[in-house]
Amino acid sequence: MSRMLLLPGDGIGPEVLAQAERVIEALNRDFGLDVEVQSALLGGASIDTYGTPLTAETLAQAKASDVILMGSVGGPKWSDTPFDRRPEQGLLDLRKGLSLFANLRPAKCFAALTDSSTLKPEVVAGLDLVFVRELIGGVYFGEPRGIEALADGGRRGFNTQSYTDEEVRRVARTAFELARTRSSRLCSVDKSNVMEAGLLWREEVTMLGASDYPDVDLSHMYADNCAMQLVREPRQFDVILTDNLFGDLLSDAAAMLTGSLGMLPSAALGESGKSSLYEPIHGSAPDIAGKDLANPCATILSLAMALRHGLERPDLAERVESAVARALDEGYRTAELTGGSHRVGTAAMGQAIIARLHA
Ligand code: NAD
Ligand code: IPM
Ligand code: MN
Repeated sequence: MSRMLLLPGDGIGPEVLAQAERVIEALNRDFGLDVEVQSALLGGASIDTYGTPLTAETLAQAKASDVILMGSVGGPKWSDTPFDRRPEQGLLDLRKGLSLFANLRPAKCFAALTDSSTLKPEVVAGLDLVFVRELIGGVYFGEPRGIEALADGGRRGFNTQSYTDEEVRRVARTAFELARTRSSRLCSVDKSNVMEAGLLWREEVTMLGASDYPDVDLSHMYADNCAMQLVREPRQFDVILTDNLFGDLLSDAAAMLTGSLGMLPSAALGESGKSSLYEPIHGSAPDIAGKDLANPCATILSLAMALRHGLERPDLAERVESAVARALDEGYRTAELTGGSHRVGTAAMGQAIIARLHA
């Protein structure tokens, strides 16, 4: 029996996670999955009940779980609170508290969605790349940070971009290992032309590649060029290794190559054998929350990643991914996706996927 913790969060989080939960129930019932599910509050929902976005109890519960599946956190209701008490801080503390340093964000264009991207079909057809985003370092966590008053009566906001050699090496190792299971090509993305932290990043990745992964074809790219190359010719990439902030930005941009932000799952991994966290890359989408409009695919595909990386059930991961592909092939689309023949809401999309688990 494995343990899974569900953290629905805020906005569309509970809506999309409810569909993933139905998939888990179906897998437990009909496909030999043996997962015990618990739920807890994270983000704004936790602030409203406990006054803090992540309680010590929830963090302990997460540590005691094999896998954690999250919806999304945040929203306008909490956007005026100080940083340390915002919903997003709960997620950052969860990632940090579990030492989840490597964030896999696959951007795959499903065949049925080739026409749904805002880019030309011939540019995105067959796209299949993975970001390995460093997740618990960089400017998100660097010190010093703050807002301070200036002598002239003005104010200064400041954050620190910072990486140690070991922080770079451990996430780079994940990316090299992943590249070996794919095409053995790895592109490391940085701003080593502008930042010392970027230069150290490039040097460490280069040294690790030369010493431990000479078989992997390593290249480097500046982050601004990478943003352009992703829309110019995205299929040149296989595995992209990058830092916390660049990975955040580039993965949202890459989501549109697949048709929608609502299609991209993610896996946050730390040391093997410890708990891992799975979440769609999108946010709480306040503009469509509560309307049965959200696409649950990213969350259901995140569940598939949990089955593959955390629960050692690659067979069930493939079953879930095939069910998503089939629902799309048969024309099921949530509102933000173009094309298709069955325009459905969040729950009906979940149902269409569950109905295809058996095929
Ligand atoms: P967002 O990702 O919530 O939404 C951006 C746009 O994409 C919106 O138009 C939204 O409707 C659409 N969208 C997102 N997910 C969708 C889905 N599954 N189906 C259909 N459309 C979808 O980004 P935002 O609006 O900038 O942020 C809203 C809140 O979410 C903020 O508080 C932000 O901090 C938070 N956020 C949380 C996470 C997370 O929990 N991992 C990620 C990103 C943003
Ligand atoms: C994401 C989100 C988070 C991030 C926020 C909500 C902390 O944008 O998971 O992509 O920036 O990492
Ligand atoms: Mn993001």
